[in-house]
Amino acid sequence: MFVLGLQGSPRTKGNTNMLLSTFLDEAERLGAHTHDVNVARLQISPCEECGTCEEEGFCPIDDDMQQIYSLLRQADIIVMATPVFFYGPTAQMKALIDRSQALWARKYVHKLSDPGQKWRRGFLLSLGATKGKNLFEGITLTAKYFFDAVGASFDGSLTYRQIEGPGEIAKHPTAFTDAKEKARTLVTPFLKRKKVLFVCTENACRSQMASAFARYHAGNRIEAESGGSAPAQEINPLMEEVMEEKGIDMAFRKPKSIEEATRFLIPELIISMGCREACPFFPDVQNEEWNLADPAGKPIDFMREIREQVEERVRRLTAREDGLTRLTGKAYQVGTSRAGS
Ligand SMILES: Cc1cc2nc3c(=O)[nH]c(=O)nc-3n(C[C@H](O)[C@H](O)[C@H](O)COP(=O)(O)O)c2cc1C
Repeated sequence: MFVLGLQGSPRTKGNTNMLLSTFLDEAERLGAHTHDVNVARLQISPCEECGTCEEEGFCPIDDDMQQIYSLLRQADIIVMATPVFFYGPTAQMKALIDRSQALWARKYVHKLSDPGQKWRRGFLLSLGATKGKNLFEGITLTAKYFFDAVGASFDGSLTYRQIEGPGEIAKHPTAFTDAKEKARTLVTPFLKRKKVLFVCTENACRSQMASAFARYHAGNRIEAESGGSAPAQEINPLMEEVMEEKGIDMAFRKPKSIEEATRFLIPELIISMGCREACPFFPDVQNEEWNLADPAGKPIDFMREIREQVEERVRRLTAREDGLTRLTGKAYQVGTSRAGS
């Protein structure tokens, strides 16, 4: 599972950084894969309100935000961490938030569902120098709408007043223990999911669709990854198109090799799409063969037919009892803030 931390303070050794690092270190210790983005060190231009994202679904500004879109899409948990600057997030963090308008447009204008959006959680860490009652109101509202745009349900916040000089957060009596406890509460249910790897040759069509459907229908019970023995450069545009017909958004996905796909996921079940020889060998791991025809280079109707077959197989996989039973005891439900813990 993947936890993405967005660190918005320009002070690299400041309070926000210390608080976020404590959260991420605990998540990593529990078994999550984490990635800490130092937002102030990136080149992220402010939104120019050009309207391209509403028309075409992507942002034309070619800067570091392009890599953030894909990280946001991969994340199971997003932690937005920022100090209070004039009752809002820092300008660097705000630029990132405004540029997430491209994801807002894909969701609300283009009516596409990111496969992870039902299960992804968003959490806010913030602090400021003063003790005003309303200190975190602006940031909390901004965080809620940011998380909604990027397909994450808001899971609350930890906020600290009267923290000013660099490192002062370390003197707070509970801040670090709070952050560790919250990391445990959020991460643990995700770690209990069954780890499934979908494999084909190019990781451009079938295994991409299978992992997206698995995440979409059962991302609370399955941690899905996909990879190919000879990955293509890009995912197949016809595959993207037929998934969009179903309302599922495949944007920001890239084919991966099997090595990349298993860097942070040790599979418990490997499902081959129809090219068993491409399958990696993992000792003691359940293997399955779905025997689906390769739609690459075939007409769009054939791609649609394979999409239907893949979804049906994924539905059967998620409905059946065997390989997934150990996860069904306490399903992780969206909408309950401490579900599954
Ligand atoms: C430009 C700027 C604006 C700030 N605005 C506020 C504010 O509105 N309210 C507040 O309580 N603290 C404000 N602060 C103080 C910071 O929130 C505080 O020093 C915080 O601990 C900095 O966190 P960091 O070490 O992670 O950067 C401001 C600081 C700066 C530099």
